[in-house]
Amino acid sequence: MSSRETVLSLLRREDAFLSGQELSRRLGLSRAAVWKAVDALRKEGYEIEARTGLGYRLTSAPDALTEAEIRNALGPTVIVGRELRCFEELDSTNNYAKTLAQSGAPDGTAVIADSQTAGRGRMDRSFQSPKGQGIYLSVLLRPQLPPDRLPPVTALAGVAVCAAVERLCGVRPGLKWPNDPVLQGKKLCGILTEMSLEAETGLVPSLVLGIGINVGQRPEDFSPEVRAVATSLLQALGEPVSRPRLTAALLEELDRAYAALLAGDLSEYLAAYRRDCVNLGKTIQLIPLGGGARETAQAVGIDGEFGLVVRGKDGKERSVRSGEVSVRGLWGYVD
Ligand code: BTN
Repeated sequence: MSSRETVLSLLRREDAFLSGQELSRRLGLSRAAVWKAVDALRKEGYEIEARTGLGYRLTSAPDALTEAEIRNALGPTVIVGRELRCFEELDSTNNYAKTLAQSGAPDGTAVIADSQTAGRGRMDRSFQSPKGQGIYLSVLLRPQLPPDRLPPVTALAGVAVCAAVERLCGVRPGLKWPNDPVLQGKKLCGILTEMSLEAETGLVPSLVLGIGINVGQRPEDFSPEVRAVATSLLQALGEPVSRPRLTAALLEELDRAYAALLAGDLSEYLAAYRRDCVNLGKTIQLIPLGGGARETAQAVGIDGEFGLVVRGKDGKERSVRSGEVSVRGLWGYVD
């Protein structure tokens, strides 16, 4: 650990003032090294009060997506988040995680950026990723499962986002099928899963699960088209939310979801998805992704593979899959 890290961890542990002498004695550092570390921490946004005769006390930590801030809030996880790679800026955390996959990075490695210059969404859309306002995270997974066991990954991630937001903010988002967490009828988060297939084994050697959560954006921070359908936690709750704490809660929830996927027991997640899905019981429009006429149908259920069960005008029920159609409410993004 660097001097900066040891000073920070001691200041975090002690709620009281610690004199420079005490800090240097307990950490085995010179007084000058302690002062330098305090100065560096302040430059990073830590507020450290200094009182003559008393010493230093940490009064607040920055809302920074750094390894130090995320780890400080992160409980034990088995696989997801064992390794964290944090960046101020990347083109896309999914792109970076894919490069890591090729260089042999371990299962569960999480890549986190404070901003993305080319954030990607589904269907070749871009994902607006302004600095300091969202969480842009990709997790590299190596499930060693056949591709037919993997379609639920994105749905599990949707449930994990809902659970993390609920734990931290006390409000549970809904899920717009197939996997958009929503609050107050607007999109809060986007999820993009990308996987590769190994021809010899028929297994998926690596999969990148990318999640972008809108945390602190104000309406004017979105482009007009995105503003019409998107929200942030700040907008929906009216108060700021700590990005490192939410990131830590999300990594913990993703770790639990990944364990369920590997164990092949998705019953808890199916039940949660069915409770969270905001489309059920509503009249929706099915928009074929390959083009063609839109169809109006009733959303009546979620099948065992997280497909949407719809009842058409003819009264017949069938399941639709996320690669086939997208879904809209009759009056807006969700109704
Ligand atoms: C969508 O709603 O279309 C999916 C958006 C996914 C955005 C996230 S942000 C982190 C990761 N990196 C990317 O480039 N995309 C995903």
